[in-house]
Amino acid sequence: MGRKRVTSGMRPTGGMHLGNLLGALENWVRLQDDYDCFFFIVDWHALTTPGGGTAVGYENVGDLRNRVREIAVDWIAAGLDPGKCSIFIQSHVPEVAELHLLFSMITPLGWLERNPAYRDMVQSYRIESPSYGLLGYPTLQAADILAYKGDYVPVGKDQEAHVNMTRDLGQRFNSLYGKKVFPITETLLTPVPRVPGLDGVDRKMSKSSGNYIAVSDSSEETVAKIRSMYTDPVKIRKDDPGHPDGCVVFAFHNIYNKPEASIVRGECENGGRGCVACKAQLAAAMNGALMPIREKRRELEGNPAVIGEILSAGALKAEKIAAETLREVRDAMNLPRRGDF
Ligand code: AMP
Ligand code: TRP
Repeated sequence: MGRKRVTSGMRPTGGMHLGNLLGALENWVRLQDDYDCFFFIVDWHALTTPGGGTAVGYENVGDLRNRVREIAVDWIAAGLDPGKCSIFIQSHVPEVAELHLLFSMITPLGWLERNPAYRDMVQSYRIESPSYGLLGYPTLQAADILAYKGDYVPVGKDQEAHVNMTRDLGQRFNSLYGKKVFPITETLLTPVPRVPGLDGVDRKMSKSSGNYIAVSDSSEETVAKIRSMYTDPVKIRKDDPGHPDGCVVFAFHNIYNKPEASIVRGECENGGRGCVACKAQLAAAMNGALMPIREKRRELEGNPAVIGEILSAGALKAEKIAAETLREVRDAMNLPRRGDF
């Protein structure tokens, strides 16, 4: 028995934001020491939505290659080590597309139609005419995970339903064809599985809402975005008592200024802390924590050839594993082998 496998991906619709970092990537970095890890930039998934403005999508592919490169830089700057894990581009492993096709035959339409993320995407991207590919998004995601027989999938809370569908599809395959080809896939969450957006604790940070702080933002942009954060609407004067539990600024103090979070809470509740100072303190803590990632980013950006080599080497390793899985899948489904006839 080899080591258990970890698989996960991110869409290159834009650069990596704090939701991606805190909800997923920090877990990837932790897991790379103990598991066989496959981390992919899902360029096909980026084409499931139309895109527009700065967002990449099937109507807006001009920046796709740049975005893929940026995400690779973000990941490595944030601590993924290509010596410990495979980092590659989804579309460089064509076996995944074949697995998606075969899975599409056994994915009940009802599963896809009931998928809450599908409805969310149609709403948040204001898609008038959703495509066949968008409806099949979870089937492609299952192919991503199961081509490498992923045991664990470290993702944010919003992806849990997709991972559950992957597990159900793998088990459906195993039972239809009477072979244990696929493992029972499980989700792994971080301590912050749902990072709020700049616009409120009940909003999720996301590229489509534009309510994010990107890892690649400058310190000044970070300060300006924190200043724009939504705060307690009933705390108008500095000495009005505040309500930290409904406040995004406090939510981020809890992440980036954890040792002092209880002091921040006390001062806010007693009217002893104004929002302007509270935001400045948070900005300093956040910029301090992001500084090493930002510096590493700059270094890597000046060295694109290294990124290209990392992605090629990753694809080579991944394709070997996916090719083995696909041989088992074709055999289980009794597809004729080339040369048999
Ligand atoms: P995406 O950018 O949608 O491809 O997401 C990439 C990864 O980041 C997935 O594991 C998501 O679950 C995770 N993620 C995205 N936004 C958030 C958020 N606001 N909080 C926590 N995790 C997130
Ligand atoms: N759907 C995921 C997201 O939007 C991205 C993704 C695609 C993924 N394939 C995956 C995540 C496989 C984990 C495993 O965040």
